[in-house]
Parts: sequence; C-alpha cells; structure tokens
Amino acid sequence: MRVLITEDQIKHRVQELGALISADYANRPLTVLGVLTGSIILLADLIRATTVPLRVALISASSYGGTRTTPGELHINSSLVPDLTDRHILVLDDIFDTGRTMQGLLQTLQGHSPASLRTAVLLWKSDRTEVSFAPDYFGFRIPDEFVVGYGLDYDDEYRQLPFIGVLEEADKRGQNPD
Ligand code: IMP
Ligand code: MG
Repeated sequence: MRVLITEDQIKHRVQELGALISADYANRPLTVLGVLTGSIILLADLIRATTVPLRVALISASSYGGTRTTPGELHINSSLVPDLTDRHILVLDDIFDTGRTMQGLLQTLQGHSPASLRTAVLLWKSDRTEVSFAPDYFGFRIPDEFVVGYGLDYDDEYRQLPFIGVLEEADKRGQNPD
C-alpha cells in the first residue's frame, strides 16, 4: 500500500487542529460529535490535543444501496445523541468527499437547536465536493483517490493503520486473504 500521509504528519496536524479549535471555542460550551465509525481514531487524538472543556457525543451515518465510491441513500441514527440545545457542536468525520454525508448530518442536527454547528474532518477530497459548503476545519486536502487508515475503511477493514494509505488492487482482497 502506498503511504499518502505518514503517522508523523497526522500527529503534527492533529496538534495544530487541536490548538485552532481550542482558541475558537474558548469559553463556549463545546460538544464534539463524532460520526461513527470512521471518526473514532481522530476523535480520540483530537480531543486530547485540545485545552478547552468539552463533551463528546456520537452519531451514526451510513449510506446504503450505493457502491463503495458512489453512496446511496443516507441513513442517520441519532439515538445516541444527548441534548444539544444551546451547545456549540463540532461535527467530526473522517473525510469530506462529496459532502453529502455532512450535509445530511447538518440538516438533522439543526433540529436539535444547537447554539452553533461547524464541521471538522481529517481529509477533504476537494475535487469531488458537490455541496455549497466546505468543512470548517480539515487536516489535509487530498486528490481523488480511495484512501484507508486512521479510521477510514475499505469494506470495514484497514481502520487501524496509523497512516493514510492509497488502496491498491491487491489490498481489495482484504487484510487476511485466503
Ligand atoms: P461523502 O458523503 O461523499 O462526503 O462521503 C463521506 C463518507 O464516504 C465518509 O464518511 C466515508 O465513509 C466514505 N468515503 C469517501 N471517500 C472515502 C475514501 O477514500 N476512503 C474511505 N471512505 C471514504
Ligand atoms: Mg465513514
């Protein structure tokens, strides 16, 4: 697998993002809302790179019926989401690709009466964006290639890699091919 972003580059950038977010949210009641499942590694590292009080919550978003690169209908499960009224919400996902997932999440979350809603992602595939907004915080802009690692999966595998790699044909057989 070809490494696109190294473990050290990610570490350094996550520290920078943590500092930025800490400055922006000082003295505001912040809830970092991680999108399952891809955001879990970034969530764990990013909250430890912040220096402001915050709460952590989780929401799930997945698209069914599409292929791996063209998502189908978006399903959002907010059953784990606590009361967000008057809280400043930072929605955290692994990647902003077409932006449709984030768009759907923002629409749903508006109904929870937050004080503000912003978005943060590790990766932004800016050439593929199909919505009229961009992520408020992003780690790296990347070209239109299918990537895995640091939470991002292919067929639910490879999330545990500490770097971001570009998936190659041989990797599509999985991590334990027989
Ligand atoms: P969007 O709705 O098109 O922005 O896609 C967001 C979702 O698609 C992400 O949460 C990922 O689950 C998935 N996705 C998009 N591009 C990639 C990729 O290169 N690798 C792994 N997952 C991806
Ligand atoms: Mg995902």
